[in-house]
Amino acid sequence: MTTSNRRRPETAQWLKASNSITQQFLAFGGRADVVSLAGGLPAAELYPIEAIQEATGRALETHGAAALEYGAVEGFPPLRRLIAERMAAETGGSFTAANVLLTSGSMQALDLIGKVLIDPGDLIVAQAPTYLGALDAWRPRRPAYLPLDWQAQDVEALARAKFAYAVPNYSNPTGVLVPQDRRAALLDKVLAAGTWLVEDDPYLSMQLDGPPGRSILAHAVARTRGPYDGPVIYLGTVSKSLVPGLRVGWVVAAAEMIQSLALAKQATDLSSSMFTQAVAHDLLEREFDRRHSESIVPVYRERRDALCSGAALRLSDWFEWEVPPGGMFVWMRSKNRAIDTDELYKFAIEEKVAFVPSSVFDFTGEDRFAMRVNFTRSSPEVIREGVRRLGRAIDTYVSSRPQLAPRPSR
Ligand SMILES: Cc1ncc(COP(=O)(O)O)c(C=O)c1O
Repeated sequence: MTTSNRRRPETAQWLKASNSITQQFLAFGGRADVVSLAGGLPAAELYPIEAIQEATGRALETHGAAALEYGAVEGFPPLRRLIAERMAAETGGSFTAANVLLTSGSMQALDLIGKVLIDPGDLIVAQAPTYLGALDAWRPRRPAYLPLDWQAQDVEALARAKFAYAVPNYSNPTGVLVPQDRRAALLDKVLAAGTWLVEDDPYLSMQLDGPPGRSILAHAVARTRGPYDGPVIYLGTVSKSLVPGLRVGWVVAAAEMIQSLALAKQATDLSSSMFTQAVAHDLLEREFDRRHSESIVPVYRERRDALCSGAALRLSDWFEWEVPPGGMFVWMRSKNRAIDTDELYKFAIEEKVAFVPSSVFDFTGEDRFAMRVNFTRSSPEVIREGVRRLGRAIDTYVSSRPQLAPRPSR
């Protein structure tokens, strides 16, 4: 028997329901001939390499071997304390290191939340469309989903759910900024239902049109006294305010939830890298992340505007969108339901431009009428070229579908 036809056990069932779309995007990101408007990556040329070099030297000088150990599963103690102090200052709440777990990016926090809260068939009430990484992280646990309704969420459904999941600041994929009254209303319902609320906030620093207002965590703080013990499980990260490569993120939650997550984390990786947490600590302590974010935001604003003005000229016969007040994405919805963005994607690849079709952000897989377009990774010139290619892809796609002609009037 040759090795190639040897029988082996099958992979677990959940893998069959998974998709390789994230890997595909990362691959396109590396191809020079493709304009990738698909990924969710910051601009690499803006990474503060020198500052990270200097912080690395200082972190090793200050912490020595402690920065190179396995370390505590909960994370590098000085950084846990610093995050607790920042959250206290931002929300007016009472947070200590016991409320903080450091993770390998907020992606790991999502995975740990799945491990700790989801049994097969459990219900999640999720903001829809939903961040693909969260759907991926929870897929092995086979949850059921209901869409979160910011205006009229049914409390009974929340009471059946293990948690609600939301990205209120410049959501991925839609770029939506959820208004304050809706945040407060959702929190009221979460409290009435007696469930958890996962507030995922990776885009906080990407404020293109001014500050986003209070987090749902801050609303929860206003309703409690004493050490924080509320239902909001808040996720932060340095991936957008510094660089994704440090893989430093954090969970801020009730101490009891932090203990459960730490137990889950121990079996995942013993601990995240003390080394990169020590480097991040040095930079956050100096508030470098805040200064850096201020310096890069104008670049991203220009790129967003290049995308939206280019698209207004070339794509607006077929798509509509709102200009996002922050984040990294423009969510373009087709005006004509006969346009299927899974199909359009294939024509786009022929034209050497990539976007993300909406189906991957839909837990039912049925929304095929929109696309997520990234504006942070490429220069305005490259973005404009990407829009031209997208325009050509739409023209070819539409002319191959007789039911789509004639063009809708503007
Ligand atoms: C909504 C959301 N959550 C979490 C993450 C993961 O971020 P991190 O790099 O901190 O793992 C991302 C990444 O883009 C995201 O968009």
